[in-house]
Amino acid sequence: MDYTKIDFYSEKLKKMLTQSRFEHTIRTVNKAVELAKGTDADMEVVLIASLLHDCAKYIEPTAQQADELKDFMQYPQIVHAPLGSIIAQEEFGITDERILNAIKYHTTGRENMSIEEKIVFLADAIEDGRSFGGINEIRELAKESIDLAMIEVIKGTIEFERTKQNEELHPLTYQTLSYLEKENL
Ligand SMILES: [Fe+2]
Ligand SMILES: [Fe+2]
Repeated sequence: MDYTKIDFYSEKLKKMLTQSRFEHTIRTVNKAVELAKGTDADMEVVLIASLLHDCAKYIEPTAQQADELKDFMQYPQIVHAPLGSIIAQEEFGITDERILNAIKYHTTGRENMSIEEKIVFLADAIEDGRSFGGINEIRELAKESIDLAMIEVIKGTIEFERTKQNEELHPLTYQTLSYLEKENL
């Protein structure tokens, strides 16, 4: 692994995020590395994708990017994920599709996710700074099964949005849930 590259990425990233968002990022990297142990995930992909997953959190898409991301633009909370994969390419020079997809799908997931995509998704949701009802049970479950822990995270998100009722979830979220449930019958 090229640690000079990792250092360069994190120095650059720090300037693009708030202090608290950067701290969340570091906790996400730690959780992702922990989840990746004992799986056949590529550790470099996991490390770089988790580091850059929120790189576009404070970036407004240009008109051209907004056009490219039209399937996501009605969901303001998650635009930073697909936009992040564009920024990772343009600003950080990332070309590895495995990294770009793990960034792109970190909030919604998708069908047929790779192990690296699942790890970044789950690490983001259950890193040590997060707190929501049942999270400790999900952290324990994640040690047994990344898929089952993801199912619980997504169900919780759907339930949360249902009670708030002011925001709609992207259809990919539902597709990810049924895909994971089908795979884990
Ligand atoms: Fe995010
Ligand atoms: Fe995040």
